[in-house]
Amino acid sequence: MIITEFTADGFKNLKNILISPAEGVNVIHGENAQGKTNLIEAIWLLSGARSFRGSKERDMIAFDREFARLGLKLRDSCREQEIEAVITKNPRERRITLNGVKQRYLSGLFGALKCVVFTPEDLELSKGSPDNRRDFIDLCISQIKPAYSKTVAKYENVLLQRNALLKNISLGISSPADLDVWDEQMARLGAYISVLKYQYTKKLCIFAKRLYDEISNFREDFSLGYMSTVYRGLNGREDWSGEMAAEYLEMLRKNRSEDIRVGFTTAGVHRDDVGVIINGSLAKDFGSQGQNRSAALAMKLGQAFILCEETTEMPVILLDDVLSELDKSRREFIISKLSGMQVFITCCEPAGRLKGRRFEMKNGEIFNRRAKRVEKTAEKE
Ligand SMILES: Nc1ncnc2c1ncn2[C@@H]1O[C@H](COP(=O)(O)OP(=O)(O)OP(=O)(O)O)[C@@H](O)[C@H]1O
Ligand SMILES: [Mg+2]
Repeated sequence: MIITEFTADGFKNLKNILISPAEGVNVIHGENAQGKTNLIEAIWLLSGARSFRGSKERDMIAFDREFARLGLKLRDSCREQEIEAVITKNPRERRITLNGVKQRYLSGLFGALKCVVFTPEDLELSKGSPDNRRDFIDLCISQIKPAYSKTVAKYENVLLQRNALLKNISLGISSPADLDVWDEQMARLGAYISVLKYQYTKKLCIFAKRLYDEISNFREDFSLGYMSTVYRGLNGREDWSGEMAAEYLEMLRKNRSEDIRVGFTTAGVHRDDVGVIINGSLAKDFGSQGQNRSAALAMKLGQAFILCEETTEMPVILLDDVLSELDKSRREFIISKLSGMQVFITCCEPAGRLKGRRFEMKNGEIFNRRAKRVEKTAEKE
């Protein structure tokens, strides 16, 4: 899939941006704090996912503006699509459309534009907190199965309610029997999520292993393992609404008194992890920095390749400042693996060594021969 046009105005410091990206590599270069990451973030938001920087919607609007306007045209193997978003300070006034069809939230855009974003923080994917790996796997599955994100949101809501109830029980306000209704919901949702996460991890392991083998010249043994806090083994298990939900429920019942004592749900998919194993030991505890970085690289590239396979479309790749963090061989490796995909790369240097269409970002504006200046958008239409 190819972004053929991208516009932004009033999004953070971005002003009057209208670019026609190349089908291959696009290099956005410029000094620090000019707006390069803002541009990557804006494209990413139009994929319907949450900001990778954790920005809230109202913080996305330029300090001196009332609204931010974003637009994108994309082409995949079947059709051309158009996304428009006007983000306003009052969320009720926001206007988001996908092919002219109104959406209530940015998340309504999920599914049209498929992107893989890679930031320096992602290099911590293997070594960092389990939260990052849980969120990463959740996002990967949602990109293939958009309804999955709703299941995760439901699970998170049940978890919140259950944890609040656990606290009320320890305060004597509620009774333990009130947990039954939440436990049953949690068990069904949790069992389903466990199956999907296990299956995705298994698939990612195959793709990431091939990539890791190449980076390490077959000198190291790489694998990923899904670490469930509920099930001993998940291989071949799919009966999430029957036997697996019953087992999940049994675990919740067994942990009930401990959960009441500590005031939160001590086990469940929200506590699962994905173990990155290199030469038989957990990379986060025993791996070198280089091994952990290669593992992160293999997992992120694996995400892109799985998207290609599952959706038969190549995702758009957003590399924010990540190349400067990598040594020459890893840099060359990543670029070679992305050939054939549309890539946006940000960097500080004038990008002399990188081949591709170049855009210079200066104070929130883009300068290049192809960039056209759009008429300043009137504050009110
Ligand atoms: N809501 C906003 N309104 C206006 N400007 C904003 C807003 N939010 C952030 N900025 C500005 O955006 C700039 C940072 O942009 P960005 O992070 O994209 O820079 P960058 O080019 O990626 O820099 P670096 O090379 O350091 O990563 C800062 O100058 C910041 O003040
Ligand atoms: Mg940046």
